[in-house]
Amino acid sequence: MPTSKLIREVQALRERLDDWNYQYYVLDQPTVPDAEYDRCMRRLNELEAQHPALQRPDSPTQRVGAAPLDKFRQVSHEIPMLSLDNAFDEQAMLDFNRRLLDRLGAQYQPLEFACEPKLDGIAVSLLYRDGLLERGATRGDGSTGEDITHNVRTIACIPLRLRGAGFPGLLEVRGEIYMPRAGFEALNELARQRGDKTFVNPRNAAAGSLRQLDARITAQRPLQMCCYGVGQVQGGALPDTHFEVLASLQEWGLRINPESRVVSGIDACDAYYRELAARRELLPYDIDGIVYKVNQLALQQRLGFVSRAPRWAIARKFPAQEEMTRLLDVEFQVGRTGAITPVARLAPVFVGGVTVSNATLHNADEIARLGLRLGDTVIVRRAGDVIPQIVSVVQSRRPAGAAEIVFPQRCPVCGSAVERSGDEAVLRCMGGLVCAAQQKAAIRHFASRRAMDIDGLGDKLIDQLVERGLVENVAGLYRLTREQLLGLERMGEKSADNLLQALEASKHTSLPRFLFALGIREVGEATALALARHFGSWEALAGASEEQLLQVDDVGPVVADHLVQFFDSPSSMEVVAQLRAAGVSWPDLAVAAAELPLAGQTWVVTGKLEAMDRDAAKAALQALGAKVAGSVSARTHCVVAGPGAGSKLGRATELGIEVIDEAAFQALLARHGSAG
Ligand code: IVH
Repeated sequence: MPTSKLIREVQALRERLDDWNYQYYVLDQPTVPDAEYDRCMRRLNELEAQHPALQRPDSPTQRVGAAPLDKFRQVSHEIPMLSLDNAFDEQAMLDFNRRLLDRLGAQYQPLEFACEPKLDGIAVSLLYRDGLLERGATRGDGSTGEDITHNVRTIACIPLRLRGAGFPGLLEVRGEIYMPRAGFEALNELARQRGDKTFVNPRNAAAGSLRQLDARITAQRPLQMCCYGVGQVQGGALPDTHFEVLASLQEWGLRINPESRVVSGIDACDAYYRELAARRELLPYDIDGIVYKVNQLALQQRLGFVSRAPRWAIARKFPAQEEMTRLLDVEFQVGRTGAITPVARLAPVFVGGVTVSNATLHNADEIARLGLRLGDTVIVRRAGDVIPQIVSVVQSRRPAGAAEIVFPQRCPVCGSAVERSGDEAVLRCMGGLVCAAQQKAAIRHFASRRAMDIDGLGDKLIDQLVERGLVENVAGLYRLTREQLLGLERMGEKSADNLLQALEASKHTSLPRFLFALGIREVGEATALALARHFGSWEALAGASEEQLLQVDDVGPVVADHLVQFFDSPSSMEVVAQLRAAGVSWPDLAVAAAELPLAGQTWVVTGKLEAMDRDAAKAALQALGAKVAGSVSARTHCVVAGPGAGSKLGRATELGIEVIDEAAFQALLARHGSAG
């Protein structure tokens, strides 16, 4: 028999673990280090194993049940789980508001609405009896769903027992189970490594994870739930408004969406829609719109339902991020380093707010992964500013005799041989600088804003210069004459003079920019900066041995190899000599690395930054002397965290490391004269 002291210890451990879970999963405020949590969990497991009499189904240890099921039981929903009417534009929202006021009476203007993100997941019902989780079920067809109790019990943010007091004896909570994007990416990465099939999107991954007969599989999936309403309620009362119901659910230990808000009037609904649409990509999960609900429950009651949807709620949908279209053709583009990239030509389709007619296919592996053939119907995804991607092939719509996609045997631009080196997935044109495509791409890169910043030297102009044989490589740019320029299409005197002036101005540059502009493989902005800072001058860098190059932060064997090849190549050195002869110059870096303001410090950048991308933030930190690391450790000096920051931020908080947001980061850069 366990002693009363043991019983008290077990109870205390459970309470502590429940509290920590609540703080972590529901309130999003982690309070204990993982190690402490694990220690308590181990101790509780140990005590329960030693004293089976102490085991309880709602103990935090009891999330994964025993044997897998052989089939799902059916569940009928006492109160049907409804769907929502959709609104696709502002007019449909105004019509919705008008219908409500027509039924209720004009004195209710402005109506109060609860606004919630419409999560793209799986609708579920959780039944709590006397505070204990009794059953979890899918929506199914709305009146009959499947019993997934064994699976929902494994989801950490779903309480096995409600917290506090005041909840009804029977409470059915409804909400959406979904997979956050980061978890989805990680899950797919794991699947790829194991050679398993990947999931098409987070919604499918969530659905697949819940449709498991073996809860041990579900337990390994990064699932979450947000609750958005109630079904059956007996033996207790709920507050008068939807929003207060949500607040009660949260107090009882259920997760609700922190973005939920109450607004007054339909115009404020639109403002909320715009605000969330703008932040959509920054949220850690996929949403496909906003759900608006009349906040007063008494008014909801009066409004009632039409067929399958309530009159008191509506879903305003965002423009779809995925659409179906047809693959018309695949073209092969040759990049700066000769990499041959297949590009899909698509029947134009409106997706993610723009018309898309091209999508990159990356490489042969990607085409094989998709199993893509010419003429296929495909799902195209464009989220935010991300370039459009083909996410899958609709197999059932494949036309008879659809041809395989064949990679070219020779460079489609210059006819040189193509090669696949080592275990690289990419195919490369071996033509080097004789390949017009590589010439053009090298010049475009050289002229770009973050490289030599040659204003007015656009893609069309570069095409003409190369095609007419006026410029073969970047050094040729500085030999262009006014007469040559005036002979080009769409080139007036003013533009020609401006371009010559921009070329002249670009000659005064910096060593990091120049190094980056040369387009040496794998030498991005951050590496160029690290090299320039380490060696201080072109001569020191060009003369460095492979061992010396490897001393530089950021430089590994691959980069060092590309650098050595570049400096050993007579034709590359000739181009550099010509550039310098034309007057391209830079001051050597005067400030010794050790004197820089952040010298000796290690920083980490995580989450999404608004004003600059992460590479630029990294480069800015390195320019101030900091080392930028990929993970947080005890040696980290400071973490810059943008929205969506995840485990790194958690780790930093745990270790008590300073964390600053983007505004503070920009202020720091401004103080050191290097903002933007
Ligand atoms: S309320 C009677 N609120 O959207 C009200 N649904 O198209 C029924 N959904 O099956 C649902 N987020 O899976 C509601 N905040 C939210 C929601 C939401 C996502 C899903 C839910 C439902 C579907 C209706």
